[in-house]
Amino acid sequence: MRRLRRTAALRDLVRETRLEAADLVLPLFVEANPGGSDTHPARTPIATMPGIDRLSIGEAVREAGEAVALGLPAVLLFGIPAEKDAHGSGAYDDEGIVQLATRAIKDAHPDLLVITDVCLCEYTDHGHCGLLKPDPLSAGPDGAQVIDNDGSVELIAQTAVSHARAGADVVAPSDMMDGRVAAIRAALDEEGLGDTPIMAYSSKFASAFYGPFREAAGSAPAFGDRRSYQLDPGNGAEALRETLLDVDEGADMVMVKPALPYLDVLRRVKDEAGIPVAAYNVSGEYAMLKAAAAAGYLDERAAVLETLTSIRRAGADIIITYHAKDAARWLQ
Ligand code: PBG
Repeated sequence: MRRLRRTAALRDLVRETRLEAADLVLPLFVEANPGGSDTHPARTPIATMPGIDRLSIGEAVREAGEAVALGLPAVLLFGIPAEKDAHGSGAYDDEGIVQLATRAIKDAHPDLLVITDVCLCEYTDHGHCGLLKPDPLSAGPDGAQVIDNDGSVELIAQTAVSHARAGADVVAPSDMMDGRVAAIRAALDEEGLGDTPIMAYSSKFASAFYGPFREAAGSAPAFGDRRSYQLDPGNGAEALRETLLDVDEGADMVMVKPALPYLDVLRRVKDEAGIPVAAYNVSGEYAMLKAAAAAGYLDERAAVLETLTSIRRAGADIIITYHAKDAARWLQ
């Protein structure tokens, strides 16, 4: 076996999995603030994600320009609205933060793909990914609140249409409500937006690795958790079922999220879905490597490139990662 490992040229020749900037998507956090003053800086660092900032629209456009220069094909937009309410109305407001940022980025960089995260959690004051209603199974004034699946789906579809109208190239629902892909497909088609693809967060697990993101987006649930709508970490077959349902409902791409603790799921999804598969190398995975590198425990460049290669090898056609700019630089 060692004959083909002897020189770099031979190893390159027989390498099975290649990592390219063209497969990486850079997530951006866009904040609804005027930018530039002391009280409203144009960039707000995220403490748990060193190197990643919340951006004003102007800074997001600048960051998009850097992505283009580095050969990255796409950004994934998350919005942090000025105000939140029970119905997450900022999500489907045609003048909302993601809609404004999408228009600004597409104006400046028409060839860069803008993918938008479609969810209510950044826009609801309770931080859940959908609407709440009194739990019909626990009566009384102190009864628990539960997710209103079908009511949420309607607003999620409205959000996707609003993003597509603003110029989003791809909409990516991350809410995990049942039936949302079909509802989004129908709503887009009805509005004459039949050419807008859906990247469905299909295998989205109820994960501890979203912690830093929730600090970044201010979207931690005010009470309870997301286990009634996101997948249980022990369930691989169920992830596959979710994926095939989304394919059936009209998803153009599916996603596995997080990536590293779910590489087995990624392989199963790649083998069965028959459509492009994305993997989300999430905030906690990023924070883990950055912390180890900062402490001097790991060589950051080598660890990041090995990690991203492993995600590709497990079956990802596309990797969404906060390391995208660094990786693109290192791969040049
Ligand atoms: C919104 C959403 C989340 C992430 C992407 N979209 C957070 C969550 O579900 O709590 C996490 C991304 C990351 O951790 O990098 N629903």
